[in-house]
Amino acid sequence: MKGLILVGGYGTRLRPLTLTTPKPLVEFGNRPMILHQVESLAAAGVKDIVLAVNYRPEVMVATLKKYEEEYGVNITFSVETEPLGTAGPLKLAEDVLRKDDTPFFVLNSDIICDYPFAELAEFHKAHGGEGTIVATKVDEPSKYGVIVHKDGSSQIDRFVEKPVEFVGNRINAGIYILNPSVIDLIELRPTSIEKETFPQLSAKGSLHSFDLEGYWMDVGQPKDFLSGTCLYLTSVAKKNPEMLVATTEPFVHGGNVLIDPTANISPEAKIGPNVVIGPNVTVGAGARLSRSVVLANSNIKSHAYVKNSIIGWNSTVGRWARVENISVLGDDVEVKDEVYVNGGRVLPHKTIAGNVEKPQIIM
Ligand code: GDD
Ligand code: MG
Repeated sequence: MKGLILVGGYGTRLRPLTLTTPKPLVEFGNRPMILHQVESLAAAGVKDIVLAVNYRPEVMVATLKKYEEEYGVNITFSVETEPLGTAGPLKLAEDVLRKDDTPFFVLNSDIICDYPFAELAEFHKAHGGEGTIVATKVDEPSKYGVIVHKDGSSQIDRFVEKPVEFVGNRINAGIYILNPSVIDLIELRPTSIEKETFPQLSAKGSLHSFDLEGYWMDVGQPKDFLSGTCLYLTSVAKKNPEMLVATTEPFVHGGNVLIDPTANISPEAKIGPNVVIGPNVTVGAGARLSRSVVLANSNIKSHAYVKNSIIGWNSTVGRWARVENISVLGDDVEVKDEVYVNGGRVLPHKTIAGNVEKPQIIM
């Protein structure tokens, strides 16, 4: 089988992390975001994976080449010279996608869930339509593509991208399986699968939806990245509890704590619930971390307090410092001792020596 991952876009909503690392390589649950998808596609029998990109492929190529062997897949890069939107990239990669006459998967690179690829392929084959969209329910459907159904059927009546008026709360989860015939509807130009291709398919009665079980989140912005991390950790706690740190460890509070084995944590720290700590991170005595992600090589000094925040790579949070309220530190940031950061988005290589009292971007 084949799959295409839509990796384009500049990841501006996840700045400052994406100023130094392409969004798909930002670690989610201690692994590059895109690796969760590559692994699940491989597990469902996908052999050819196309990454549709429009910037900085060099970094991605280097990182992903090493996973080809590990997961037994061929990963190719389809590079756009101008951003082709969410449908154009399928046309650009048609050589791979039409390699045989079987359906292929398409997914947005910024969504996290228990990817249901094998079940999706079976469901798609059974209804005989040209496309199937994975659907999930959300509270704020206006930020997504909304699916409206024919009564009592999986067939989609209407697809409305980012509706202004409420039409329903079942939305496009950003995962599709499509027959090669769908490529016939797409031209090689910047074009949107949600606004142009799906309405054509639903008008033909050829588009169906498949309900996703369990959690789902678009983790393309810091607030949702943190919420998604909580959902992911809760799912890991249920399915693979051995991946998490035992709640009997003296420094673990409330569970859902994932720590890379190379991190160095003081037994007198207090960590949890819902914390991810990356490789070579140091956490000092009396430090308090909850609902946060600390990326590789960072140092949380003694008695620092980190809540609801993302600490980027190679950063330092000083002694008795306090970082909270969806603060995001970029690569190589230093928060000096005793400094308070409230909702600060701090650009790479900055030193914060005075309090940041109100949410703001620090450059
Ligand atoms: N290759 C390529 N080229 N990829 C692109 C381009 C492009 O020009 N533009 C966007 N993408 C990729 C993004 O990187 C992302 O993986 C995916 O296409 C969707 O783009 P977003 O910008 O994240 O869209 P969204 O989150 O506002 O809405 C989409 O996702 C929702 C689910 O999270 C839509 O598909 C909605 O219908 C859906 O509900
Ligand atoms: Mg998105």
